[in-house]
Amino acid sequence: MYNPTAHLKLKELKASTLKAYDEKLSADFQTRLTALFSDIFSRFVKLYGEHEHFQPALELLLQKMAEASIGRPAYLLKSDSLREENPGWFCSEDIVAMMLYVDRFNKDLKGIIEKLDYFDELGVNMLHLMPLFDSPKFKSDGGYAVSNYKKVDPKFGTNADLKAVTKALKKSNKLLMLDFVVNHTSDEHEWAKKAKKGEAFYQDYYYTFDNKTVPMLFEQAMPEVFPESAPGNFTFDQSMDKWVMTVFNQYQWDLNYTNPYVFVEMLNNVLTQANMGVDIFRMDAVAFVWKQMGTSCQNLPNAHQIHQLFKLCTQVVAPGVAFLAEAIVTPEEIVKYFGSSEVWSNEHDMAYNATLMALMWNSIATRSTRVMKASLRDKPKKPKGTTWVNYVRCHDDIGMGFEDRHIQESGFDPAAHRKFLTKFFTGDFNGSFAKGMPFMYNPKTDDARISGSLASLAGLEQATKEGNDLGIKRSIARINLLHGIILAFGGIPVIYSGDEIAMLNDYSFLEDESKSDDNRWMHRPKMDWQLAEKRKQKKSPQAQVFQALQHMISLRKNCPELGDHNNFKLIETSNEHVFAFERQWQGKSIMVVANFRDDDQQVYSHLLFPQSLINPFAMKDLLTDQKVQVEEGRLYLAPYQFYWLTNQ
Ligand code: GLC
Ligand code: GLC
Repeated sequence: MYNPTAHLKLKELKASTLKAYDEKLSADFQTRLTALFSDIFSRFVKLYGEHEHFQPALELLLQKMAEASIGRPAYLLKSDSLREENPGWFCSEDIVAMMLYVDRFNKDLKGIIEKLDYFDELGVNMLHLMPLFDSPKFKSDGGYAVSNYKKVDPKFGTNADLKAVTKALKKSNKLLMLDFVVNHTSDEHEWAKKAKKGEAFYQDYYYTFDNKTVPMLFEQAMPEVFPESAPGNFTFDQSMDKWVMTVFNQYQWDLNYTNPYVFVEMLNNVLTQANMGVDIFRMDAVAFVWKQMGTSCQNLPNAHQIHQLFKLCTQVVAPGVAFLAEAIVTPEEIVKYFGSSEVWSNEHDMAYNATLMALMWNSIATRSTRVMKASLRDKPKKPKGTTWVNYVRCHDDIGMGFEDRHIQESGFDPAAHRKFLTKFFTGDFNGSFAKGMPFMYNPKTDDARISGSLASLAGLEQATKEGNDLGIKRSIARINLLHGIILAFGGIPVIYSGDEIAMLNDYSFLEDESKSDDNRWMHRPKMDWQLAEKRKQKKSPQAQVFQALQHMISLRKNCPELGDHNNFKLIETSNEHVFAFERQWQGKSIMVVANFRDDDQQVYSHLLFPQSLINPFAMKDLLTDQKVQVEEGRLYLAPYQFYWLTNQ
């Protein structure tokens, strides 16, 4: 929309701040700036209009954007323009990702290049490398406490090594996703160090307080993220003689985004990393960036304004870069991170489908898909041209973040149901096959999340220990079932490194003082390359998981209907153990039918197919390439069996 104030402001900035860069700025940059400036400006005014540094901060913002644009390497400018012609490029069925810790995977950044063949073998063409930038040796939260956003942590290598990785990935047609830790810095970041030395200017980069009065008022409405290891949301810092807001760990200081300089400096960090060759930013803990007393300090409207500013400014400089929201919150709140536009995202291009992840684990525990269906029936809409990141496990704990009303609708009591899930996955329930641990039990809310690797939660650890062949078989079937769903659901599937070879829990963190208070390390094992060799040994669990995944990935890439066209359709099966959905696109279709129970199940074909593009009399399972027949009006499924049905 034409906004005369913004128009005049831009004119003024072009004649002043941008003047010095004029000749070096590309026409494309100028065009995009003109097109997006009023969206940027209106948000900046909304957030910072009253701030004493409004004008200089705005000038600094434009200056940083101009400098980043001029510094953007030619090969990235090229990919920018290709992607501008193909917005929504990340919705493609062709993309399959793996996330990994560089040091735990293969020593360091050089080690990534050595293993490109491994990714190719599996079919992975996008890498999420866990936090890479400089971070203290011990107080690092796995790299999520950043002390320098412009320097690679020496334990992984150098900035030159990162450049070599981006080049190698580009050359082999792979995408790179890196974390951007947007909500907090390490207390060893130079801003925090200056704050500790008493510099008021930098104390205002964080939420600092002279005494406990205000923090205590905040606390009344703020939940705790790490109640066991880091209770409370504020920490007293002796050198500063002040309290500072620390929502996560005590050494992770929350940035004060009510200060416009914080936004500008952090945007500058984003743009610097973008120019290193990042394709996608995983924006960490996005729900938390805006705080307001009397609220939970999560999902606030101004948090969205901040993220929209990040996106819009980056779009001017580096339009080929995409953003992923890590918002592990309720389904209704998650979709808000796609922004407020209906046709394309003006905020994040993708979001973690934390709801699906939790629903799948719920279905594994209960062997019922009732809650999953209730939730998906009621799924909030996301804008076109945005997509999900679908995953079974990641480096974090599992929180059962679906809605209570969907549990109720399914006939369960929410509190009792959630308690059951924790017990089931921590092996504290008779008949459970799962070997997880409770994460961050909070006695005040009687709440806990769950840690554990995919294979161990799916039963492989216990069954192997017991020498239970049927148990081993079932656990492998569960793993493949879950992978089969994330590959077909719609969105980018992300395999968690190690899960492709069914790695079990790693209990060695208990002996490491820097990790023992955080049991998420139990599912962050060092990649076992010897075990990986077994992927070639027929019948080993490794081969059965790896090869199934490899096969499904290659099938997915040849099925355009599996790209994300907002074409997920839930199918009512009337069998609570069987989950089904269809993905139609331009006359083609795949229907996934999945049995979540460890015995045979059947579904009526008159329920599955009435609105389907699939002909029940001439269909096949893409996974086995075998004809599938309806018998006496029913489709049969073996324990944990799943089909990808398609027309013959
Ligand atoms: C994110 C990360 C998690 C980390 C937290 C704080 O949610 O995934 O590992 O502890 O943010 O940065
Ligand atoms: C909370 C946060 C999420 C973080 C996780 C770490 O769930 O919402 O961002 O990853 O804690 O345990």
